[in-house]
Amino acid sequence: MNPLNHVAIIMDGNGRWGLKYKNSRNAGHKAGLKTVEKIIKETLKNKIKFLTLYAFSTENWKRPKKEVKYLFDLLETFLVNRIEDLNNQNIKLKIIGIKNFSKKLNKLLIFCEKKTAKNNKLQINLALNYGSKTELINAFKLLSKNKEKINIKNITKYLQTKKIPDPDVLIRTGNTKRLSNFLLWQLAYSEIFFEKKLWPAFNEKDYNKIIKNFKNIKRNFGSIS
Ligand code: FPP
Repeated sequence: MNPLNHVAIIMDGNGRWGLKYKNSRNAGHKAGLKTVEKIIKETLKNKIKFLTLYAFSTENWKRPKKEVKYLFDLLETFLVNRIEDLNNQNIKLKIIGIKNFSKKLNKLLIFCEKKTAKNNKLQINLALNYGSKTELINAFKLLSKNKEKINIKNITKYLQTKKIPDPDVLIRTGNTKRLSNFLLWQLAYSEIFFEKKLWPAFNEKDYNKIIKNFKNIKRNFGSIS
């Protein structure tokens, strides 16, 4: 059986779910947050060490201002209300992406990272204002500036995921089959599961089914053994 150390998720389908059931995209984001809570619990139960959630991409700024504001207000409320409990559960929170939000949110994100920095039961990487191409370009710039050799080890050390093992599993909900500029380097050998359900409808049973399927896959990383 394959060990499962890291699950990455593209939480797609909030907007469509919200429009379908509540006549509002933002209601979909609110419901999506409930799924986030469920999946964190289930990740702990499954003793998985890393969970990476794609919460806001560099391309998501193109959305209407009102929706962007709603998403960041939701994030802020979530962190203010839940950080104490996440910390008590020995969960470490790390932000991947560029922190160029409001001063208040930047401060809150740094506070949460510092507060939970020593925790080691589960690390949640929240991808916020994250784009894989920008991450790679920044890594190449640093390599060039420091006159370092271009090789896998050196590129990896300049990525924001430098101390995080590559995902074993990528899940994308929402019935869409694309990577949307998410962890393009890190997903090279991940097992990918495209899920038809929209993120707010995704549940523990769906998650455990994927985990079970993953554990039984024969992974050979390019070899034939
Ligand atoms: C994609 O669905 C989802 C997002 C861009 C935001 C994800 C946010 C959450 C799950 C809730 C907040 C999370 C945290 C951690 C506070 P979409 O809106 O692109 O859906 P669509 O494809 O149906 O339009």
